[in-house]
Amino acid sequence: MCSIIGILSKDIVAPALVESLKRMEYRGYDSVGIATLSTNKISVRKGIGKVGQVNSSLNLAGMEGFVGIGHTRWATHGGVTEYNAHPHSCCTNNIAVVHNGIIENYLSLKEELVKKGHIFRSETDSEVIAHLLEEYYNTGKDIKRAMMETVNQLEGSYAFVAMFANGTLSCARLDEPLVIGISDNTYYASSDVLGFLQYTDQAIFLDNRDMAIIDKAGVSIVNFSGEPGTRSITKVAWELADANKGEFAHYTIKEIFEQRISVKAATYQDEHKIKTFCDSIVSANNILVTGSGSSYHTSLIISMMGSRFLKKRFEPVMASEFQYNMDSIDKDTVIMAISQSGETADVLSATKLAREAGAKILSIVNVQTSSLARTADVSLSIKSGPEIGVAATKSFTGQVSLAYAILDRISGGKIGFDREVISDKISKMLAQQESIERLVNITMPKVNDIYLLGRSIHFPIALEGALKMKELAYVHAEGIAAGELKHGPLALMDKNAVVFVLNPDDRTYSDMLSSAYQVKARGAKIIGISNVPNDIYDAMIEIPKIDNDLLYPLIEIIPLQLFSYYLALQNNANPDFPRNLAKSVTVR
Ligand code: AGP
Repeated sequence: MCSIIGILSKDIVAPALVESLKRMEYRGYDSVGIATLSTNKISVRKGIGKVGQVNSSLNLAGMEGFVGIGHTRWATHGGVTEYNAHPHSCCTNNIAVVHNGIIENYLSLKEELVKKGHIFRSETDSEVIAHLLEEYYNTGKDIKRAMMETVNQLEGSYAFVAMFANGTLSCARLDEPLVIGISDNTYYASSDVLGFLQYTDQAIFLDNRDMAIIDKAGVSIVNFSGEPGTRSITKVAWELADANKGEFAHYTIKEIFEQRISVKAATYQDEHKIKTFCDSIVSANNILVTGSGSSYHTSLIISMMGSRFLKKRFEPVMASEFQYNMDSIDKDTVIMAISQSGETADVLSATKLAREAGAKILSIVNVQTSSLARTADVSLSIKSGPEIGVAATKSFTGQVSLAYAILDRISGGKIGFDREVISDKISKMLAQQESIERLVNITMPKVNDIYLLGRSIHFPIALEGALKMKELAYVHAEGIAAGELKHGPLALMDKNAVVFVLNPDDRTYSDMLSSAYQVKARGAKIIGISNVPNDIYDAMIEIPKIDNDLLYPLIEIIPLQLFSYYLALQNNANPDFPRNLAKSVTVR
């Protein structure tokens, strides 16, 4: 949930630290800090706010030094305050630390350290790392030994980078991402390749329980027991230009528009890999599909379509609930794990448990170099390019598109998936951008409750649309399986409610119209999303007709994304960085 970066270079590092933090700000953005080493002294500047704001007020980029560390925070332990912002320093100020993750036993460690005379300046769990390192380093002046002793004490999940006053950086990871970047004169230790991709595409992905010590002589990698390890250098493929907003006002709207292309990109796969992926599904007795948030909504679609067309039971399980649903998992089980980032802690924990129970892990990710992709038996990437907006948009449709292509292939073409048709219909939907913006302005002032009704494969889209409205526009929104209205939610309907009815002309059409009449009779305002006009709708977003009605979910999500984006603007919310959220949720 936080981003960490360390840089050791022959050049001044502060400007690059600031740039790296800006690129990784999606991971957390409530406070920012940098520490650099200059004339053997560690200086720290940190403050509340986003990187740009804190840099403007504290001139982070103007700090001196050829070694430095930086951090953007998403608060877990301790409020959003300047003193809780990272980096944290030890008592003698000869070690500073940035940390991502949670140290579960920090209270007992802190108590011990306080007894030994250490003085703490924050409420964070992270600060114990600086004091532990100090405790062990001061006794032997051996950084490797101090790191080993420290990680030996820590419980939880973490990646951290420590800067020592002798100019050395050291870092370690356990269940949180950490990657080393290498260029001619400079070394990076970063939460994400985006932290250094603008400078080098040469990366070393540290394994769990790896530590790296970086000094002018280079990088040495050892495991937590101190045994040396060799890790290969990977060339990272992403184009840097993809991580810019271009002519768009926000990443979110840019990424919504990129779906014309990304739904197609997702379906171009290496033949050998996709065959292995599909064969594993075919030979499985038991298939569980898991993910979080939007990726869980993809899991719902996969499960519905898989069960229907492959005549096999696919069970969707929320990643955060997975640990309580382990009973059926054995060596004949396949887990399909869906994740944009491939770093979501709930998903990684689910796949770890399933692997221990003998299951095979198939993953669909966007970030090909992520922990999930690297630990799965087979992994396919949706190749959407960096998704910076915290709300999943192109990654969601990329996942659904690839899932359709996979199921179509296994079922011998029963789904009739056609990427060109999808891309064309999405373009037509995007062309309604301005009318959807107008619709927001007309219908939305003073609306507190939005409901989205759908049946069958439209129900996951109702959930996904509601999630977009909540996270982007901070409006209460609820996706409801329309047949459930009469079992409770109908009591909520009155003239203050706005109800989206997902109603293309497929086998759900007439039942959906009945649901629309039920809410209309209670005075709710209805927005129809359909290709068939009907007087019952107070407003209608017309979707293009598709011959293959199985493909409607990929089209009808587009107006809901656009609607949520414009509603966010109307509500003065920053669509790229919703409050209290982070793009990668790497804590459980
Ligand atoms: C979606 O808009 C969210 N921001 C969030 O629910 C997200 O889908 C979830 O955290 C899972 O992330 P992942 O796909 O990277 O695993």
